[in-house]
Amino acid sequence: RVAYVNGAYVRHADAAVHIEDRGYQLADAIYEVWAMSDGRLCDPEGHFARLERSLGELSIDMPMSRAALTTVLKETVRRNHIRDGLVYLQVSRGVAPRDHAFPAEPVPPAVVVTVKRVDPQAAEARATAGVGVITTPENRWGRCDIKTVGLLPNVLAKQAAREAGSAEAWFIDADGLVTEGASSNAWIVTADGVLVTRDTTANILRGVTRATLLEVARTENLRIEERPFSLEEARRAREAFFTGAGALLMPVVAIDGQPVGEGRPGPVASRLRRLYIEEAR
Ligand code: PDD
Repeated sequence: RVAYVNGAYVRHADAAVHIEDRGYQLADAIYEVWAMSDGRLCDPEGHFARLERSLGELSIDMPMSRAALTTVLKETVRRNHIRDGLVYLQVSRGVAPRDHAFPAEPVPPAVVVTVKRVDPQAAEARATAGVGVITTPENRWGRCDIKTVGLLPNVLAKQAAREAGSAEAWFIDADGLVTEGASSNAWIVTADGVLVTRDTTANILRGVTRATLLEVARTENLRIEERPFSLEEARRAREAFFTGAGALLMPVVAIDGQPVGEGRPGPVASRLRRLYIEEAR
């Protein structure tokens, strides 16, 4: 396996960043994840746009142009001989003696790219069966729109899900509303057949998969509402699912162990998954 680290392609086993990298010490870093399907990056421009936005919010310079970054991503993929998987990019503010405030003398951002293989057949089998989610109180900061590597609440939520035999954890805010998953956006199809996902003006990550799926859903003559929905409404929903570069679209068949709808993937989720995957290719 090969990784890209600060200008060089190196053996994954030897790839390393400095101990005073601010991403390592302070989570002063952002990341992006692209799904790769049949050798092609999914939604490349959507992820680049969000990358630039996240960096801008933290006053970190884009480490190189979109075109140069695309070359690096593709070259890392090529050297790993992977056609289906996930491409991970991390950009940290750089290396400097530890101090919470930004380095007085700007340092170059540190860039890392890795690639992970995903078995598309196994993913398809999971989607055909559907997965469970658990719920957990929302305890993250107020800037979840920035794709920062500061993911400890997400890590703990996902671990709790795993220990419960579930695939994802949905954060529930103080008003009983579902915000999003630990690494995905949350959706339901209401008892009346309306497709609902939280609007991105609230404190969630603006999922690239979410945006593309909304476009797909609009061509399908579905009734769509971008608004918060409560855990109560999700429990009564006909269908539920989540989206993200990792899962693409994953049907949810149980919430906290209680079946959603008929307890198996619903027709809307299944159809949208198929259409999304065709669209992404
Ligand atoms: N996670 N919400 C959160 C908190 C996420 O971490 C992610 C993605 C999403 C979905 O965004 P997108 O559709 O752009 O992938 C929503 C990535 C895959 C990860 O952390 O690995």
